[in-house]
Amino acid sequence: MSTEASAIPQFKEISSPDPVLEIHDLTKRFPGVLANDHISFEVRAGETHGLLGENGAGKSTLAECIFGYYKPDSGSFKLNGNAVSFDNPTDALHAGIGMVHQHFSLIESFTVLENVLLGYRPSSEGLKSSNVEARFTQLLEVYGVHIDIDARVSQLSVGELQWVEILKALIYDVDLLILDEPTAVLTPQETDRLFQALERMLSEGVSIILITHKLREVMEVTDRVTVLRRGKLVGTVNTEDVTMTDLSRMMVGREIETLCRSNQVVNGDPVLEVQGLRALNDRGQLKLKNVNFTVSEGEILGLAGVSGNGQKELFEVLVGVRRGEKGEIIFDGKNITGTLPNARISFGIGYIPDDRQRTGLVGGFSIGENLILGRQWEPIFRRGLFTSQDSINKFAKESIAAFEIDSPSHHRLVRQLSGGNQQKVIIARETSKSLRLLLANQPTRGLDVGAIEYVTRKLLELRDSGVGILLASEDLEELMNLSDRIAVIFKGEIVDIIPCADANIIEIGLLMSGAKSGSQ
Ligand SMILES: Nc1ncnc2c1ncn2[C@@H]1O[C@H](COP(=O)(O)OP(=O)(O)OP(=O)(O)O)[C@@H](O)[C@H]1O
Ligand SMILES: [Mg+2]
Repeated sequence: MSTEASAIPQFKEISSPDPVLEIHDLTKRFPGVLANDHISFEVRAGETHGLLGENGAGKSTLAECIFGYYKPDSGSFKLNGNAVSFDNPTDALHAGIGMVHQHFSLIESFTVLENVLLGYRPSSEGLKSSNVEARFTQLLEVYGVHIDIDARVSQLSVGELQWVEILKALIYDVDLLILDEPTAVLTPQETDRLFQALERMLSEGVSIILITHKLREVMEVTDRVTVLRRGKLVGTVNTEDVTMTDLSRMMVGREIETLCRSNQVVNGDPVLEVQGLRALNDRGQLKLKNVNFTVSEGEILGLAGVSGNGQKELFEVLVGVRRGEKGEIIFDGKNITGTLPNARISFGIGYIPDDRQRTGLVGGFSIGENLILGRQWEPIFRRGLFTSQDSINKFAKESIAAFEIDSPSHHRLVRQLSGGNQQKVIIARETSKSLRLLLANQPTRGLDVGAIEYVTRKLLELRDSGVGILLASEDLEELMNLSDRIAVIFKGEIVDIIPCADANIIEIGLLMSGAKSGSQ
């Protein structure tokens, strides 16, 4: 080294804060998959560190290795400068690492409080189980979350579930909190609240690893970002040095297109007519008051609304898994109000539910079995009285290829797939049959930018081929790009239906908040 060079002060080194976590050369393999391939990076004390990558890139696996849920095949960690190795998550918690998992770990039939107590691990920081309830109640208050701790988990919305998971992770004092796609199921308003909560945690000395597919969030809240691609480290960058396009190129290795519907005007016959629909939720509360709208052939009707305003109940009534109190559902001119879900599937109605783990998939079934769920009686999957394994295998292989589901085989259990790839299984199942109407509730939730491009292309293709689509999305920009008209739901009523050409995001936002009543 020249004397000149050594005379230059090393500002970067001196000013960079100590790392809270150092990951060195970490490798984790599953049968047939190298999920993490010699990964090294560090998380600095006091920073929010984004972890990005396509579906199946290895983000959750890496996080679960840090948290002690998986044992890495090789590699090492340092926490606050000390070498650590965890045999299980309890060790990690005691050492000061908390985690909010991508998949909910709550037991549906238990109450919120029972779940919180169940997750309580004795001996941590002298926290007594009798104090856990008080601490949890305090956290609900501090973070302004209104959830009844005696409600059964099965009665909570997915957004509420996510808050329980987040606050549960904060019961212990942690130095590092890992959040695996915490905003995938949150509304934009809830996301803002979460980010305020994260700021509060940072000010209390917690460092954060945030896994997300939403690049806007990455730009907004992270200090640095580490990108993975197919199990390998692409690099770590300062957020302020990059654009969203740079990040998506690092993740996917190509440019991503934002797709919009064609301007072709729809004049098709109505596929779905909903008249005077009224329905209660599981708690007996009135969630749909008097819902009226039509979806025509070749039309995407966007459904905008803050989650909890009746969207879930509306989709469930349309699919036939919830009974309406009043009102009629007309499909292709026929009244199908009292028909069963299976009959509706056979009429050509597809359904992408907003919550893949609860209703969309059976985790303990293989990809192949999940791909034909609800369709197993269709003649193409039968040979006489029996299911035809050959045709199921063929269909599964074709779907995996067509939808780029990242798995070595269709025999793999769905719960072993990455979150985004689970979502692709549902989309493959629901869009590969002969459809007249697709009911899509948050279909791009949890998908990476490349997969979103794929799904939106699929929705537009279906629309152009004459399928009517009811599309709910919390991403208003996505809704504006894809929908022909947008219906805004507020407190169980459609307050307005606006052709997209005349709509603007601000007006829709106001309608969603109830601040403006519609023209209807
Ligand atoms: N328990 C498991 N058994 C076998 N393979 C697994 C298991 N968990 C993950 N994998 C595989 O490891 C790879 C990485 O998965 P991982 O869940 O870490 O991806 P991810 O980056 O979190 O993706 P997503 O954004 O979709 O959540 C995938 O190919 C996945 O199928
Ligand atoms: Mg994941």
